[in-house]
Amino acid sequence: MIDVRVLPDREAVGVAAADLIDAAVIDRSERVLGLATGSSPGPAYAELIRRHGQDPASPYRSSHAFLLDEYVGLPPDHPERYARVIRREFTEAMGIDAGMVHGPDPDAPDLERACRAYDAAITASGGVGVQILGIGTDGHIAFNAPGTPFSEGTHVARLSSSTRRDNARFFDGDPERVPASAVSQGIATILRARALVVVAMGEAKAEIVARLLSSDPTEELPASALHLHSDVTLVLDRSAARRVS
Ligand code: F6R
Repeated sequence: MIDVRVLPDREAVGVAAADLIDAAVIDRSERVLGLATGSSPGPAYAELIRRHGQDPASPYRSSHAFLLDEYVGLPPDHPERYARVIRREFTEAMGIDAGMVHGPDPDAPDLERACRAYDAAITASGGVGVQILGIGTDGHIAFNAPGTPFSEGTHVARLSSSTRRDNARFFDGDPERVPASAVSQGIATILRARALVVVAMGEAKAEIVARLLSSDPTEELPASALHLHSDVTLVLDRSAARRVS
């Protein structure tokens, strides 16, 4: 059962999501975070920074973090490389050392091997304790587009044209400048996290949120895999919840 919480606005969404992440890290002593990029986690990251950023004894400082995905084909110093985005928007202000933040290697000569190595690194860390996720308007989680087998681990994923359009806002509005592929955790990787905190905000997510909640698990709707996990909380603002009956 997905636990659905509807909050009045994005600040309240951030507080609710931060409470869930704190429950894992502080109450359950989880020390491995799974981090998404994009707009959805922003308020939760801001709230966690507000609560813990200045605390030298914060348990987050001794936590590892694993990124969900990384674009293929951007130069290492590109500002939209997810490794740079997450440092800029979250981990640096949380006092998490760069060496504790891991991402799939999009520059490896053998990408398949790099994908296997990434899954192995997550497993070797003890596994992700709490994973934060957003949902794409086409139902993707990480970069698992509709039709991706639920059994896949980290793999090279093609970005759908709708995802490239959605992400064009980070690339001067030009979908052609959005990389065509990424290295992405697979659904199987994501479902191994012990708790999932999924955030969706805004009118543009209303339809996919309603579809996800009314759907049985099907590979045609990647986010419907969330029904297969036993500890999922979906945190919505009112606009994203508008079509939920
Ligand atoms: C980001 C990621 C993506 C986003 C999704 C929603 O690391 O894996 O699946 O979570 O595209 O993006 P936003 O939150 O920008 O609407």
